[in-house]
Amino acid sequence: MTPLTLDALDWLRPNLLGGTKLVGVMGWPVEHSVSPPMHNAAFRHLGLDWAYVPLPVRPQEMPEAVAGLRALGFVGANATVPHKRMLYDLVDALSPAARAIGAANTLHIRPEGLLGHNTDAAGFQRALREADMPPEGSHTLVLGAGGAARAVVYALASSATTVTILNRTVAKAESLANAMADAMSAPASASIEAGPLDRETMARYSSRVNLVVNTTPLGMWPHVECSPWPADLPFPREAGCYDLVYNPRRTQLLRQAEAAGAAISDGLGMLVHQGAEAFELWTQQSAPVAVMRAACEAVL
Ligand code: ATR
Repeated sequence: MTPLTLDALDWLRPNLLGGTKLVGVMGWPVEHSVSPPMHNAAFRHLGLDWAYVPLPVRPQEMPEAVAGLRALGFVGANATVPHKRMLYDLVDALSPAARAIGAANTLHIRPEGLLGHNTDAAGFQRALREADMPPEGSHTLVLGAGGAARAVVYALASSATTVTILNRTVAKAESLANAMADAMSAPASASIEAGPLDRETMARYSSRVNLVVNTTPLGMWPHVECSPWPADLPFPREAGCYDLVYNPRRTQLLRQAEAAGAAISDGLGMLVHQGAEAFELWTQQSAPVAVMRAACEAVL
């Protein structure tokens, strides 16, 4: 972490006038979340009298916390680890994406009830376009089959031709492939396959894929030397590589892809765009994405 600059501190300071609208992020732990500076920077940039606060919520206290947000007049909140499934269970209605993914990362408190959204999938789609890695017609290899992979596969299923999920525990990849094929509100255009995350399988796919997406934590700080891609297997030069990890920005996987001449992108784009989607749901205004990204970069 670099020390906060005065500018970054300025972003953190909300206006806090009488009519300030409140949103926040529920997590456990939550103190390392970059969402408060990211959203507060956006509010300040647009001159909105809104504030975004960290909300440390113990898992067993989620029902009281969500009811409390409603009682306190919050406009909404994000949910991060480990609360996304719990929020899904606590809302009155779910967006199609949240329903299919089986998790809600965004709460919108409306007069008609509690609405649960999942902005990770749309955030990933926006990040891919920004990185000039359009998924349309692609054969995408998704590494990992956890919660993040669910949002990624959902996002790809309506635009890619083939999505192959490779996971250390093959049964989880298979169950994700089956669940996503069933859960799509419209028939998925992609054929969704599953396999083991091993060298032999990756070597078999490496000449055919256009895009590789890492959803595992391999390479994340402090284990920065790790990579889901085998060191002795050349990364496909023609494929793009999107790593959801953003700490560090340049992971070992991205180094391997870059050395092969592939296009690369780190996970900051998805982080910013899932936030931008939530910002737009709550405020009904276009999110100042460049300002949000700069705020994240200042605190990361
Ligand atoms: P998230 O919700 O952030 O996606 P998760 O649900 O814990 O996190 O999922 C982590 C994913 O990374 C899983 O697919 C996990 O593989 P398993 O299903 O076999 O556990 C994968 N993963 C984590 N550590 C790994 C490692 N050392 N090697 C390979 N895969 C790993």
